[in-house]
Order: sequence, then C-alpha cells, then structure tokens
Amino acid sequence: MHQKTIDEAKKRLFEGLLVIFPTETVYGIGANAKNENAVRLIYDVKKRPYNNPLICHFPNIKEIEKNFVLKEKDYELAKTFWPGPLTLILEKKKESNITTLLSNNKNLVGCRIPNNKIALDLLTKLDFPIAAPSANIATKTSITSINDLDNQLKNIFYIDGGSSVLGLESTVIQTTNLGCKILRLGSLTIEEIKNKFNDYKIETIESKLSPGNQFKHYSPNKAIRINVKNVFDNESLLNFGKNKLNSNIHNLNLSINGNLIEASYNFYHFLNILDKSMCDGIAVAPIPNDGLGKTINDRLKRAAYED
Ligand code: TXA
Ligand code: MG
Repeated sequence: MHQKTIDEAKKRLFEGLLVIFPTETVYGIGANAKNENAVRLIYDVKKRPYNNPLICHFPNIKEIEKNFVLKEKDYELAKTFWPGPLTLILEKKKESNITTLLSNNKNLVGCRIPNNKIALDLLTKLDFPIAAPSANIATKTSITSINDLDNQLKNIFYIDGGSSVLGLESTVIQTTNLGCKILRLGSLTIEEIKNKFNDYKIETIESKLSPGNQFKHYSPNKAIRINVKNVFDNESLLNFGKNKLNSNIHNLNLSINGNLIEASYNFYHFLNILDKSMCDGIAVAPIPNDGLGKTINDRLKRAAYED
C-alpha cells in the first residue's frame, strides 16, 4: 500500500471528510469520531437512521482507555480477541469528546481494534478514533471488495486493500458480571469465546424478525429465498456443499467442501455477483447452523425478511 494513499486518507479525515477503508471483516466508511459534522455525513450518505449507532475504531487499548471505562470482563475479551472482529459496548468517560451523535446520544459506544494493517496504520497516525459503519447504503449488503462498492458511494475517497480476509462483520458484545451478551452475531463465534472462557455465561439476543422489531438488513436488491430444497427457473443459486441443487441462470458455491470459513469469506461477494445476474431472485441452499454458519444464517434471515 502506498504511503501516499494513507497520508491522503489521513488528511481527508482531519478535514472532516469521509474515507472508505479496509478491515479484516468488511470495508468501513469512516469519519473523525470527534467531529459531529463529519459523523453526520456518514448517516447522510448511508441513509442510515440516527438511532442506529456507529462503531468507533481505535489503534490500541490505551487509546480506548482514555475515552472509556473497561470492566474486568472487557479486559479479558479485549486482551484475547483484539485486534480482531470483536466490538465491545463500553461506557464513555465524561471527559471524552467523542460526539454523542454516533451513539444516539447515549454514553454506551461500540469500540473495536481492527486486525488489518492498513486500518491500523491509518489509526495510529490520527489523534482521534474513526467512527465507521460498513461501507454500504443502509439495509443493503456489506462489501468485502472495493469492486462491490455501491454506485452511490463511488465518489468517496477509498483505500483498496483487496478482499477482506474474514468477510463477516464483527461480533457485538456487552459484558455482564457473569459473562457476556451477544448483541450481534459476527466473525468471532460463540464457540471461540467459550473455548477461551468456559466459565462465562453467554446470552444471545436472537434477532427479532417480527414486524416492527427488526428492519430488513444485509440485503441484496433481488428477492432472496433461504433453506431451499429446489431452485425456481427464474432464480440464481447460492449453494453450499455438495448436493443436486442447480440454477439455469447462475450458480455459485460458498464452499464445495462445506468449509464455513471459506463460505464466510465468499458470502457478500457472491451475493453481490448473483444480485447482478439476470435473475428475479436468489435461492440459497441450507447452511449448517453452528459456528460461522449461525452468523451467515442470521444475515440471510434478515436479508430474506419481507416487510
Ligand atoms: O466489522 C464491523 O463491525 C464493521 C467494520 C467496518 O468495523 N462495521 C460494521 O458497522 O459492521 P455497522 O454500523 O454496519 O454495524 C454495527 C452494528 C449495528 O448492528 C449496530 O446497531 C451495533 O453494531 N451497535 C453499534 N453501536 C452500538 C451500541 N452502542 N449499542 C448497541 N449496538 C451497537
Ligand atoms: Mg452495516
């Protein structure tokens, strides 16, 4: 990566402008987290409602400690999984000047240290955290490659860091006295947390799909049908593993060998390709509901949700 590009990104962020940058999960669209007007630009370009809070990205725990209170279990998770696909909901200190616009005027804020060289290079050069949601229009799919960037976001300065190595967003977690609550499933699986902390009580807030409780999200433009047993003539197929499913329009297999890590890596890019194929809808094969499969199924359920 050219130092010039990182320097240009840094300059823009200082000026209150937006920058699209790579992380190990998905691409982010970032702004100076201490600049209210810059953060407002994110909500505007994404058409995101202000009551949906943004994640703050930091280069290291020390910078987080300047702005937030970390409890015992926050430190345990942070030291084990950062840098990485973990977002911790932390209480902001009174003296912090991170804008309240990014957290719906609350003082609980999602914080994360991404495990991506370009993102970390950029973050260490700044004297403010980067507020960044995924680099997509609200309700649409996240992107893991600059080629998949929505036309409406193409005039924003971006750093092309190749394909995101994980492919699914971070896991959003709030710690409790006894363990933690998973607020959004993500690239860090419940199994990985249990492996390290077998004494933790882990609660999951299951995605509520009843009308009014949950917006449509993570969704392509075409209609999506999940757990299919057959494919209609007008559908493309997002397949998984070895089976007899077939589309006459376009077939893509997330992982022929049934590997969920590979499937996560391919997930958003393949959805994007199928979305652009000459189909009326996308049929999706059943995906095992454990580990990363749970996260993929969560995204698919929300994408398929009809309001
Ligand atoms: O991997 C990721 O998390 C990517 C990269 C760019 O870091 N970011 C991302 O951001 O996916 P976004 O805004 O698309 O999703 C953030 C999720 C949303 O579901 C949001 O509601 C939740 O995190 N969230 C953020 N702050 C929160 C808070 N203070 N309390 C509860 N949920 C929060
Ligand atoms: Mg998002």
